[in-house]
Amino acid sequence: MNNKNSLRNQMKETLSKLSKPLYEDYSYKIATRVYNENDWKRANVIGITVSKRPEVDTYQIIRKAWEEGKTVVIPKCYPKEKRLSFRTLTQFSQLESVFYGLYEPIVELTTEVNPADIDLLIVPGLAFTKEGFRLGFGGGYYDRLLTKFNGKTLSLAFNEQMISQFHVEEHDIPVSKIVTVEEVIHIT
Ligand SMILES: Nc1ncnc2c1ncn2[C@@H]1O[C@H](COP(=O)(O)OP(=O)(O)O)[C@@H](O)[C@H]1O
Ligand SMILES: [Mg+2]
Repeated sequence: MNNKNSLRNQMKETLSKLSKPLYEDYSYKIATRVYNENDWKRANVIGITVSKRPEVDTYQIIRKAWEEGKTVVIPKCYPKEKRLSFRTLTQFSQLESVFYGLYEPIVELTTEVNPADIDLLIVPGLAFTKEGFRLGFGGGYYDRLLTKFNGKTLSLAFNEQMISQFHVEEHDIPVSKIVTVEEVIHIT
């Protein structure tokens, strides 16, 4: 846990040094790779978080999904139960800032969607191994969700976020693909 926490802090520090031009360049290249994936092309319902810098930008991916007629569903955190609920987003004005400066769907303006209806889940994370293991933000929200998720999963990563190893625990569930600036890493 401490090992994970120091790595989280270290990674946040490293990523915060990425300049805005490089952040935009890399985010755009990663997004373009996502659109070429069959999992993206076939997906009708995309589960995705609204990125907060220095995470890879997802606003452009959300816009692209809308343009392609896909349904976009965004998680809302329930910290007490450490649970995520997904709700449809059809415009950015349906978002509000709740916890930790994250943007979440406004309950009154959006409708809940069963996670089982998500075709492609874009899983956020701070760091990843090429085996698909993911260091999240420490809540374990996605590890819980992934225990019962059967759709496709994919994560987005700047090169700096690819690490050789970290203290993977029994509850950590890998993602199936990682899209980086240079390549798509296929895991399962
Ligand atoms: N499937 C699960 N069921 C219950 N608790 C879980 C599960 N997955 C993770 N957790 C809890 O969440 C905590 C945070 O998990 P961790 O993997 O460190 O965070 P993250 O995946 O966000 O980096 C763990 O200490 C663990 O107790
Ligand atoms: Mg984990």
